[in-house]
Amino acid sequence: RLDDDPCRPSYHVTPPANWLNDPNGLIHWNGRYHLFYQYNPVGPFHNTIHWGHAVSDDLVHWEDRPVALTPSPDGPDRDGCWSGCAVDDGGVPTVLYTGGRDKRQLPCIATAADDDLTAWDKDPDNPIIEELPAEPEVLRTEHWEGEFRDHCVWREDGTWYQLIGAGMEGGGGAALLYESADLRDWEYQGPILTGDRDTAGTVWECPELLDFGDRQLLHISNYEDVVYFLGTYADGEFEVDRRDKLDHGDFYAPQSMWTDDGRILTWGWLPEARDVSGQWDAGWSGAMSLPRELSLADDGGLCQRPAPELTELRGEHTGYDVVRLGDDDSKELPVESRSFELRATVRLEDAEAVELSVLESPDGEERTPIRYTYESEIAVDRSASSTDPQATGDTQSMRVQPYDAPLSLRVFVDGSVVEVFANERHCLTSRVYPTREDATGISLSAEGGRATVASLDVWELDSVW
Ligand code: FRU
Repeated sequence: RLDDDPCRPSYHVTPPANWLNDPNGLIHWNGRYHLFYQYNPVGPFHNTIHWGHAVSDDLVHWEDRPVALTPSPDGPDRDGCWSGCAVDDGGVPTVLYTGGRDKRQLPCIATAADDDLTAWDKDPDNPIIEELPAEPEVLRTEHWEGEFRDHCVWREDGTWYQLIGAGMEGGGGAALLYESADLRDWEYQGPILTGDRDTAGTVWECPELLDFGDRQLLHISNYEDVVYFLGTYADGEFEVDRRDKLDHGDFYAPQSMWTDDGRILTWGWLPEARDVSGQWDAGWSGAMSLPRELSLADDGGLCQRPAPELTELRGEHTGYDVVRLGDDDSKELPVESRSFELRATVRLEDAEAVELSVLESPDGEERTPIRYTYESEIAVDRSASSTDPQATGDTQSMRVQPYDAPLSLRVFVDGSVVEVFANERHCLTSRVYPTREDATGISLSAEGGRATVASLDVWELDSVW
């Protein structure tokens, strides 16, 4: 593992070196949690993708395993083993993934060759779907004969169902449904939902359908954002009653796993926000988000909270019952860290904004303010996050509940990751790249009035490797 880079997260899953993108094949097997991911073992760039592999006993501490899937020089996955999922097929761990060959995207299947899921047997009959569906007509581009990839597979009443992400000719993205008795012979059923080009992108990648009992959630990744639709799914159709972004920052192509006690945990890829040369210099690219628990609130909205397992990582603690900030007051916390969790309740009183600044150098040259304003917005301002010209300076933001109620905030900072959870509902993940060794400060300030920050806790977090 490349470990001496201060931008390397220490409690988020990263590749040992080189390139990582989407989480894949999440499965709890033989008592261990397996997280596979899109991986290029050759360098920190996206090319000839393999499946990397990490395992955990507790969802918190991880161990690197050897590469699990490698493109076969003569196979339909010659150019890459792209994203897919894992299922338990009557005691046989099985993965479905997209093979890339020439200009084609070809669904493939493989079964575990050992109980540790380190080796996989690819089916000699791959690809398992060869024809693109006729209706809707799948989008062709300069690079692809059809934008048709990624897999979400589940079983219901003895039948297997599968969603594949696609783009439609002349339209937007689509989540296409297939049905099978044996995971190998698939019959096309049609789209469960299609998007219009303006609101949800031209191609839907990594669709995933999650069942919350009487309501369902479908999320798709549309090259920009992860959009989720809440509503009801029945008989091959998804009826939407609300939609939003799963995260408002650097978060993409998530995938979920059910725990034994019936919770849904979701991981997303946190792409870099520095340019290609910055990624080359670093020798690694991409991190996984923390696992998030998804659930539905009483009002039907989506809740997202950090998996409770993560409290295991808490080390040294600094806490305050209450911090009262006067107009233009600022308070430095006596903590210096690049890997910590901060939890607080913020009330604006009559302030216009409260700013929590992290990764701050003593002179303020580098700092990343997280601003909460009376316009009910949270923004991560990256204009001074880094003096490195390879890093982006864009501000990212999201809306939260009205300012007159207290805001519950949980912020996870880890090397180059800032993950913000607001009111256990809204998430904003940002990548930032401080260069200064002393960019480890944390401070709070109020603007234009008074504010109260109650039950403020900071825990330094341990490494998970
Ligand atoms: C999403 C994605 C998937 C594809 C994979 C390739 O980030 O583009 O659609 O399977 O990554 O690495």
